[in-house]
Amino acid sequence: MIEINEVTKRFKDKKISITALKHVKFTVNKGQVVGLLGENGAGKTTLLRTIATLLTPTEGNVKVAGYDTLKNPEEVKKRIGVLFGGETGLYDRLTARENLEYFAALYGLSKHETKVRIDELARMFGMRDYLNRKVGGFSKGMRQKVAIARTLIHNPEIILFDEPTTGLDITSSNVFRQLVHQLKRDGKTIIFSSHIMEEVSMLCDSVAMMHKGELVYHGDLNELYKLEGSQDLNYIFMSKLVRGNETYAS
Ligand SMILES: Nc1ncnc2c1ncn2[C@@H]1O[C@H](COP(=O)(O)OP(=O)(O)O)[C@@H](O)[C@H]1O
Ligand SMILES: [Mg+2]
Repeated sequence: MIEINEVTKRFKDKKISITALKHVKFTVNKGQVVGLLGENGAGKTTLLRTIATLLTPTEGNVKVAGYDTLKNPEEVKKRIGVLFGGETGLYDRLTARENLEYFAALYGLSKHETKVRIDELARMFGMRDYLNRKVGGFSKGMRQKVAIARTLIHNPEIILFDEPTTGLDITSSNVFRQLVHQLKRDGKTIIFSSHIMEEVSMLCDSVAMMHKGELVYHGDLNELYKLEGSQDLNYIFMSKLVRGNETYAS
């Protein structure tokens, strides 16, 4: 479970203060897949980085499985896997296996655990054929699989993906979508940011919509469709931005 409790994040950029998150509050339950929607600059990456302990909230707090990200970052990190858009964080000169071994070592997995886990992930993602080849020659789709496997190496219960399909071709995007389905079946809790509405409506149970640092909607996707009398998420999103709501009054 992830509890985001009245989180405000301000950045000081020279003399200017930028408020990237304004009193953001919502909860994600175990096994939920949440789509984080918002235009560029809405605060999606800032929120994901805050949950991942990479940023400190200016006000409010985040709890992951009951652990405060500020007070118990190590406990939080153990339970979270993160993949930030574009950056796969892989080393081209290493093989897929060596890359995964490297990250396993960072998480303190033993040699045996590492081997078992890599075999498992390779089977799950259909990577066995190229596990021992250098990542440098991989297609985008192959890279993406290895990058996601890296995110999952320590078998985290919570996974954060920041714009995972931005810049990917259709085949690679589909690979990602299939993986999310699989992870969902395994009971993982997932938050991923996207501006592809079709992707979100395909994969998510609920959505969190952000606009200029504020949460304009959070809730069940089917309920939202009922409420709005439409299943066109793109349209709903745009009309929410125009209309605003109670939490988006200022
Ligand atoms: N390190 C930083 N320093 C200053 N401003 C930042 C920093 N990171 C993000 N911001 C600002 O915070 C706002 C939200 O950014 P971000 O979370 O990256 O949005 P999104 O991921 O939704 O596009 C933007 O105005 C952005 O310029
Ligand atoms: Mg972003």
